[in-house]
Amino acid sequence: MTTNDYAEPAAALPSGDMPLLGFGTWQISNFDATKATARALEAGYRHIDTATVYRNEAGIGKALASTAVDRELLFVTTKLPPHHAGRERRTLGESLTKLGLDYVDLWLVHWPPHGGAAPRVWEQLIRAQQDGLAKAIGVSNYSLGQIDELIQATRVEPQVNQIRWGPPLYEPTMASGLEERGIVLEGYSPFKSTNLHDPTLVSIAERHSASSAQVIVAWHITHGFVVIPKSVHPERIVANAAGTRIQLTADEVNAIDGLSRVAKAGSWRN
Ligand SMILES: NC(=O)c1ccc[n+]([C@@H]2O[C@H](COP(=O)([O-])OP(=O)(O)OC[C@H]3O[C@@H](n4cnc5c(N)ncnc54)[C@H](OP(=O)(O)O)[C@@H]3O)[C@@H](O)[C@H]2O)c1
Repeated sequence: MTTNDYAEPAAALPSGDMPLLGFGTWQISNFDATKATARALEAGYRHIDTATVYRNEAGIGKALASTAVDRELLFVTTKLPPHHAGRERRTLGESLTKLGLDYVDLWLVHWPPHGGAAPRVWEQLIRAQQDGLAKAIGVSNYSLGQIDELIQATRVEPQVNQIRWGPPLYEPTMASGLEERGIVLEGYSPFKSTNLHDPTLVSIAERHSASSAQVIVAWHITHGFVVIPKSVHPERIVANAAGTRIQLTADEVNAIDGLSRVAKAGSWRN
């Protein structure tokens, strides 16, 4: 049924593999999410990224219910809205009901609650993981300092930090800081963060008979970053995934790294 299976390449989490390619679903309506997710699964995506605030978990759940892909081969992420601090477990229960799942593969704190690390909220994620409702737990939009606060308070490190990422936002200190802590870097908004007409990207894309969007996907994969491109267009859903198969040379990766504005201007994340 699938044209390709993008379960590989993957990042190793203690709970199992996390495919480096995921399907982003922000700004896909609940209605459209069923068809778009079904397209992505048919195209071989095995990892789906949603969130309570996207209000499309039920639509995604319909696609998950009708796919022929076994549950164990799927990797489903959802996220706790920071303003749901204090009602974490109820929120996760609602997500699971809408998704039609017994557990999610990854549950993230969507943003630092009230701009802070919020170890009390993190403790609730740890409990949900202990209870088997989330195979892995992590954070999103956290700085390294905020992550260290969580680790100091609970001795449990997040397994993933999902952050806005792409060549212009490439920040070696964030990448190495997460790696040192054993945390997977999951990038979001790979295309929105990047000028798809950038001449460096366009010329590398031409060399590979590819699009600059595909080169951006390939750049993430080469670095071992998770990438979760969103599209509602079947041809783009397929093409974006195929970017994972492009073999960039070391020189090409260096040239794309060089597009970073952050490496030159300094981080804004801490
Ligand atoms: N944790 C967070 O705070 C957070 C924040 C933002 C996003 N996210 C997650 O990350 C995912 C990806 O980020 P994103 O949706 O913000 O942005 P994105 O994936 O970088 O870009 C999506 C946009 O690019 C277009 N697009 C898709 N493929 C394309 C291609 N091959 N060529 C040209 N344009 C293309 C899409 O349009 P069409 O749909 O019309 O093709 C859409 O307008 C989200 O869907 C969500 O799951 C997380």
